[in-house]
Amino acid sequence: MAKELVLYAHPGQRFSRANVAMTKAASDIEGITFVDLYAEYPRHDINVEKEQARLVAHDVILFQFPVFWYSSPSLLKEWQDLALQYGFAYGHDGKALEGKTLMLAVTAGGPEDAYRKGGYQQHALRDFLVPFQQTAGLCGMKFAPPFALYGALGAKEDQEIASHASAYATLLAAIRDDAFDLLEDDSAVVQASTLSTRMKG
Ligand SMILES: Cc1cc2nc3c(=O)[nH]c(=O)nc-3n(C[C@H](O)[C@H](O)[C@H](O)COP(=O)(O)O)c2cc1C
Repeated sequence: MAKELVLYAHPGQRFSRANVAMTKAASDIEGITFVDLYAEYPRHDINVEKEQARLVAHDVILFQFPVFWYSSPSLLKEWQDLALQYGFAYGHDGKALEGKTLMLAVTAGGPEDAYRKGGYQQHALRDFLVPFQQTAGLCGMKFAPPFALYGALGAKEDQEIASHASAYATLLAAIRDDAFDLLEDDSAVVQASTLSTRMKG
């Protein structure tokens, strides 16, 4: 069994549909550690020792967040700036995260066809996530393909959000049970509709 840590960052949960549904689905999964960063640190006063101890105690670290300005909400960036410290996460003696896996679960307001050359976002969603991939690389971590929901705005059908949340629960349980293929793939984004293609066995 993999020890799995979900670090969830959403500053506007009152307005959230997708991430709130995902979070509810995740709360039913036993054996994972789920941390709501905005609930834990409403004043952004991150406890670095506690966060580093959490990282050390887990094998797979999953960041769950809505894409805000082509990146994560600011508290997750603050968390990275402080928790992924020199001498802990990288640098000569910074080997605490080596061999672990980083994965993202992101929701994007833009539809899938906007996230390509010629679309209004001009780049693939993966391109905007390269800083996370390279952060993982510098820390000696593997970077699994992100789990993504496109077009996650208010107009999205309830049914599609429910399917995505249910697929998220399946994903979290499969990672815990070593049943999900976490191998790196530079091009792929995993969606609810393609999740089954990465299940082992
Ligand atoms: C401040 C802000 C910035 C955003 N930036 C982006 C963006 O860069 N790309 C995008 O596709 N959607 C963007 N969105 C839309 C959110 O990603 C979308 O509302 C969210 O993923 C929906 O999830 P939720 O229902 O859990 O809130 C932004 C929304 C806000 C409020």
